[in-house]
Amino acid sequence: MPLPLVAVTRRLPAACETRLDALFRVRWGDDATDYDAARMLALAEGADALLVSAGDPVPAAVIAKLPASVKVISTFSVGTDHIDIKAAKARGIYVGNTPGVLTDATADIALLLMLAAMRRAGEGERLVRAGKWTGWRPTQLMGTHLSGKTLGIVGLGRIGAATARRAKAFGMNIAYHSRRPVPEAETLQARYFANLDDMLPQVQVLSLHCPLTPETKGLVNARRLALLPKGAIVINTARGGSVIDEDLIAALTSGHIAAAGLDVYANEPNLHPGYLNLENAVLLPHLGSATTETRAAMGLRAIENISAVLAGNPPVYGV
Ligand code: DGY
Repeated sequence: MPLPLVAVTRRLPAACETRLDALFRVRWGDDATDYDAARMLALAEGADALLVSAGDPVPAAVIAKLPASVKVISTFSVGTDHIDIKAAKARGIYVGNTPGVLTDATADIALLLMLAAMRRAGEGERLVRAGKWTGWRPTQLMGTHLSGKTLGIVGLGRIGAATARRAKAFGMNIAYHSRRPVPEAETLQARYFANLDDMLPQVQVLSLHCPLTPETKGLVNARRLALLPKGAIVINTARGGSVIDEDLIAALTSGHIAAAGLDVYANEPNLHPGYLNLENAVLLPHLGSATTETRAAMGLRAIENISAVLAGNPPVYGV
């Protein structure tokens, strides 16, 4: 019996590639490919499993045409908004993801963005690199500090709670909005808001940690930005689709929102060009989980999901 065939859209950390090669026949995609439907289907031809990454689209139209041999779509990500899960379920194809192992890495990036946005680190770095720094001045690049400010978290799941723990260490107060109160909120002394609109006027920093769903699409819009106090900061390490870019860009331009720290964007990697010239936008290229440790752990989870399904079980981390 030949080993099962796994089609993999992207190159993976070395430990994951070695493991895949030991367990399966592997058809490797590459990092330069833009996976439209035709390319995804060509890669999946005859495969038993498809291993995709965040941002590789697997819409219903692709799922409908996947060969019957494909039993599982395993994504190298915790987010699953790039896969039509309903369509996969309807075809009896399992979907697995990688929860739990990118919590700390992503929370670190949320704090990094918060600090960078509030202390104007991007502007300062550009000033130095451009050779335009004329020396220490009492009024130069003044930002605000985290301590004493209230952080409003949207979605107090694993990553939201890890971000809140870090923010508390910086002396911040925590407020949160999620569908229901979360037990962990007690140890964080976090104030619950059932209604997001009621939380916004109370927070100086808003940080998104919610999955992209029909309910959270376009959540941060002009009306909600106006509810934040003047000078508030917006941080997004979740999904770009939860923010209406034009509205955030307008608020950053008017100064109502003092700064934004963004790691994710609608239509990555083609972010809205309006961000690029804004000094008060700190822009990272979706680095949330990008540590050596985390990426290896994500890959191993994605492989575990495939092994489980090809052994006749549901994925270990099923969606
Ligand atoms: C995920 O896993 O969904 C992340 O966005 C990738 O860092």
